[in-house]
Amino acid sequence: MSLQRTEARHWWRDAVIYQVYVRSFLDSTGDGIGDLAGVRAGLPYLKKLGVDGIWLSPFYPSPQHDHGYDVADYCDVDPTFGDLAEFDLLVTAARRLGIKVLLDIVPNHCSSEHPLFREALAAGPGSAARARFHFADGHGPDGSEPPNNWHAMFGGPAWSRVTEADGRPGQWYLHMFTPEQPDWNWRDPEVPAEFERILRFWLDRGVDGFRIDVAAGLFKHPELPDSPDPEADARTRDSVNPLAWNQPEVHDVWRQWRSICEEYTARDGHERLLVGEVSVPTAREHAQYVRHDELHQAFFFDLLSAPWDTDAFRKVISEAMQDIAGTGSTVTWVLNNHDQVRTVTRYGEPATEGSGLGAARARAAALLMLALPGAAYIYQGEELGLPEVVDLPDDVLTDPIFRRTGSRARIRDGCRVPLPWSGQASPFGFTSGVEGAKPWLPQPEWFAEHATDRALADTRSFWHLYRDGLQLRASLPQLGEGSLRWLDTPPGVLAFVRGDDLVCAVNFGTAPTPAPVSGTPLLSSGPCPAGVLPGSTAAWWINDL
Ligand code: NOJ
Repeated sequence: MSLQRTEARHWWRDAVIYQVYVRSFLDSTGDGIGDLAGVRAGLPYLKKLGVDGIWLSPFYPSPQHDHGYDVADYCDVDPTFGDLAEFDLLVTAARRLGIKVLLDIVPNHCSSEHPLFREALAAGPGSAARARFHFADGHGPDGSEPPNNWHAMFGGPAWSRVTEADGRPGQWYLHMFTPEQPDWNWRDPEVPAEFERILRFWLDRGVDGFRIDVAAGLFKHPELPDSPDPEADARTRDSVNPLAWNQPEVHDVWRQWRSICEEYTARDGHERLLVGEVSVPTAREHAQYVRHDELHQAFFFDLLSAPWDTDAFRKVISEAMQDIAGTGSTVTWVLNNHDQVRTVTRYGEPATEGSGLGAARARAAALLMLALPGAAYIYQGEELGLPEVVDLPDDVLTDPIFRRTGSRARIRDGCRVPLPWSGQASPFGFTSGVEGAKPWLPQPEWFAEHATDRALADTRSFWHLYRDGLQLRASLPQLGEGSLRWLDTPPGVLAFVRGDDLVCAVNFGTAPTPAPVSGTPLLSSGPCPAGVLPGSTAAWWINDL
């Protein structure tokens, strides 16, 4: 019997949450940018898909240097996306449909337009206002060298120099992403107090929890020393500078935030959810973030990073089961998000292996993910099998990584192109109300094949696979939380049992292989005759022998 059935209170342990990238979901005003009213209009679609909740990417007032991850006011809605009244309507509508709402909270940094940062700039060196951030004097006789050698995640140095009130070059401030995103100093007591106020503001408005941006960040080494290998820190977008991330003090913050959530649960019996974006080197370190009194969930990115390879998948799944689920936490699986190349494209390489391979593998990976014990997140468009848009012209790119590095490597616009809903030509039903409205990123013609109206009408579509998988997951006690037992399989195949008798198998190769269970599968990611598991296919069976 799965934990889901015995401890229904912990709804989040095996929830499936849909990530709504608000600016690309559905535009209700015709300005080419998605908004909260658009999200509300899309709720019946998400209900039909069968998700338990939504995570809304940041919609707060922001100059949008990093699409809302540069927050100028944590307790309001940017007029581009609506207003607080519209937000309340969205929460009410979601609640009516039984869909939970999670907000994206950004505690590592804010916007350089945030009033407290502006106050810090004006207040000058040594002030209490500057202590809320990391201001430091530069090195060298005239202070013209940054205080340390750290790199920013999105290119360039992690420090920018300010001009002081007297017009002279002055102190430097730390920003681990872009200069428009100054890092908060969590050692200053006013910072945790401010975030407690923000959490309560939204909890009081009825949200069900928060996705926490850069949840292994927040604290930096107190001395801000040089990094022994700054080039290595810069090689990956994931957080690896051990002096800037994963400091022990961050766990106290998650304990504090968990206790705030528990306080709300004590009032009404309804559990709130904290899910962290935790990029740390090992599953063991990851497990530290989801101890019983810290975050409820943390995205386990190793599955997302794994190449399409039997051993790689088996290794990351085994590690998660042992090091995370083994300590009593739930594993939170994810294959796509707004920062990553979409699975259809990622698994399609090398392209010479044949067209449609990436899509077949992405379908198989989806069934695998939905069969694993724990929670899962789906990124908008994943359920439509959207490939990455890889050929956006330079002049439409908005990702600060492109601006700051001049390189298209690792840029994120291609997975953020506005969703196609209907029709044969852009805007594919994404915008409404204004003739000729242009989506903020151009949609390619081939988006027509993936539009939701087509997907809903075609039972062979990605959409139906996700919908069927979610329905079975909700109705079969073997799925969701619980145990996983590997089966012996030939090379290139992974198979495991959930509960006593539900078997999930994936053929990572391209040639068919005998199925581990005779009989017709309950669900398969592609055509799957009895007794055979075709290449690049996953299937679920009940083994009733
Ligand atoms: C992670 C978010 O997912 C990403 O989109 C953002 O740019 C960085 N954190 C900085 O906030």
